[in-house]
Amino acid sequence: MKKVFLIGTMIAIIGSNFSYGQKQMQLTLNLNKLGVKVSPTLYGLMTEEINHSYDGGLYGELIQNRIFKDNDKLPAAWSKLEESSDNYSIGLNHQNAINKALTVCLKVNVEKQDKSAGVYNTGFWGIPVKPNTTYKGSFFAKASVTSPTPIKVSIESKDGKTIYASADISLNSKDWKKYRYNLQTDKDIAETADTRFVIHTPGAGDYYFNLVSLFPPTYHNRSNGNRSDIMELLKAMNPSFLRLPGGNYLEGNMFSERFNWAKTLGDLSQRPGHMAPWSYRSSDGMGLLEYLEWCEDLNMDPVLAVFAGYTLNRDHLDAGPFLQPFVNSALDEIEYATGDVTTKWGKERAKDGHPKPFKLKYVEVGNEDGFDRSGSYDGRYAQFYKAIKAKYPQLEVIATIGGKDNLGMRERLTLQRPDVVDEHYYRTASEMESDAGHYDNYDRKGPKVFVGEWATREGSPTPNFNAALGDAAWMTGMERNSDIVVMSCYAPLFVNVNPGAMQWKSDLIGYNTLNCYGSPSYYAQVMFSNYKGDEVVPVVGSNIAMQMQQLSKKELDRGLKAKEIPAVFYVATRNSKTGTIYLKFVNTQSIPQQVKIDLQGANKVNKNGALIMLKADSAEETNSITDPKKIIPVKGTIDGLGKDFVRTFPPYSISILQIETK
Ligand code: AHR
Repeated sequence: MKKVFLIGTMIAIIGSNFSYGQKQMQLTLNLNKLGVKVSPTLYGLMTEEINHSYDGGLYGELIQNRIFKDNDKLPAAWSKLEESSDNYSIGLNHQNAINKALTVCLKVNVEKQDKSAGVYNTGFWGIPVKPNTTYKGSFFAKASVTSPTPIKVSIESKDGKTIYASADISLNSKDWKKYRYNLQTDKDIAETADTRFVIHTPGAGDYYFNLVSLFPPTYHNRSNGNRSDIMELLKAMNPSFLRLPGGNYLEGNMFSERFNWAKTLGDLSQRPGHMAPWSYRSSDGMGLLEYLEWCEDLNMDPVLAVFAGYTLNRDHLDAGPFLQPFVNSALDEIEYATGDVTTKWGKERAKDGHPKPFKLKYVEVGNEDGFDRSGSYDGRYAQFYKAIKAKYPQLEVIATIGGKDNLGMRERLTLQRPDVVDEHYYRTASEMESDAGHYDNYDRKGPKVFVGEWATREGSPTPNFNAALGDAAWMTGMERNSDIVVMSCYAPLFVNVNPGAMQWKSDLIGYNTLNCYGSPSYYAQVMFSNYKGDEVVPVVGSNIAMQMQQLSKKELDRGLKAKEIPAVFYVATRNSKTGTIYLKFVNTQSIPQQVKIDLQGANKVNKNGALIMLKADSAEETNSITDPKKIIPVKGTIDGLGKDFVRTFPPYSISILQIETK
């Protein structure tokens, strides 16, 4: 889609937008009259198990279906090494539970000694083989055969012809026992994911396996940790908080499938996992403690969403005694995160290896409760709010309705004024650009706003540059109004780009087993989050370039008429200590935009400054797993700055001018 530039001139514009008869676009920054403070928590992250965000994503585990619960009938993701062999069989076994969590295991029955007998796991679309790497593995096993029984584990090519790493293990118990092993690759192998993980069981007899696990090196070397490459991408976003654990994932399709935090704690052998709402099971390897440690690793504050008695199948509990156990559970959850070691749940956390309490400022009650048409959220929110405030008066309690988004407006909260309301916006670029001034006229006396999910949804699996332009336009509005918009986070954050892994298109960061990349929208956020001051500088724009709204088919069918909207977007902030001004300018058009910039009230302006720019040749351009860095921000020095100066911003660009003033 080519965007159309509209400002009134009949003369064809080639190479510059400024021509005879057309008035100079101008931005006047008023440094005499500084605006509101920029919220230090404006930019953060939102997360949930969707699109294989954790299992097959950020969470380091490489074995798919490690506790054999993904399918009731078959050991999903596991296969016989020699499919056609009648000499041995594999299957699920329910007679050899290890404990209440590990109730089903894999049984391999080998009739006669057979060197081709064994099973393999496909991993999450392959096992990522990298040179000179140590993979740490473990499993529970028992064997009916005479002990000790030699077996071998390995990472191999899919055809079994290349062994990248292997280890011999001697099974020496007829009862369940945990075995550990390391798999070490050579330094001169080439990276590949055309691989599988194999357990060779050549001797005759019955073998049982459970919790089969394999980890690559993880971020900060955490034992149950995260993929380093994705963590590095997140770190570059400089996020101030993490909204966890959802999203729909918090609620589950039904009560028994909610995020039941207490079942995600402790040793992996105690975690049963659960069916998640995005069509696959969660291992719960990414449990409550792992989320909190993820926050710790990136210096983010957790924004803890607690289950609030409403599920995606529209089941709910009204406020009252039946809801109270869930309120109590939320209080326990908060205690697990923040209590010292003398508290019941603080002690549990210490037992789990983290005696130090985590910082917590925000708790969110539920997710998108505007979908609950029973009207029960008013009472449910009030019940949670009162209990949380009574025990933790310092916490800010976020409501999921009461805001001005479509869902939030479905119901009013009458029983309890929320501290903060969570608003969600999923839109096209044109919708974002049409509504970039959304927060300009918000009631400053109302609750603060958390834009807890938002995205311009153009491009799949990750957004294209047009989406990044829509996002950037929207972010100028949030930043300008960050006295009221205290936090914001894009959603969804992650997508595994392998076929079949995605449930929701347009996700900020994409990856496969070996590599990851940021979309143009990701880089727009990196820029906005890293280059900002602590106070807003009011900007008055004149002769602003305009464009025609792009209405969707649905809107056209509803009889809506496209109107003129701005074609460029901007916001300025200043660092009050250093005097540095950050002027963000978004050109959504296919032609350059020349702008006169006036720094009203500046005493001294350095003529040299910096320019950070993200741009594309077309609105459809994008990054991908095979071309991950096509569109990335470039930083350079510029000169010619002063109290007033003229700059031309290229087509399809997001720019930040860093101007030093005294
Ligand atoms: O971000 C994807 C989904 O969108 C979230 O799980 C849900 O809260 C929203 O509807």
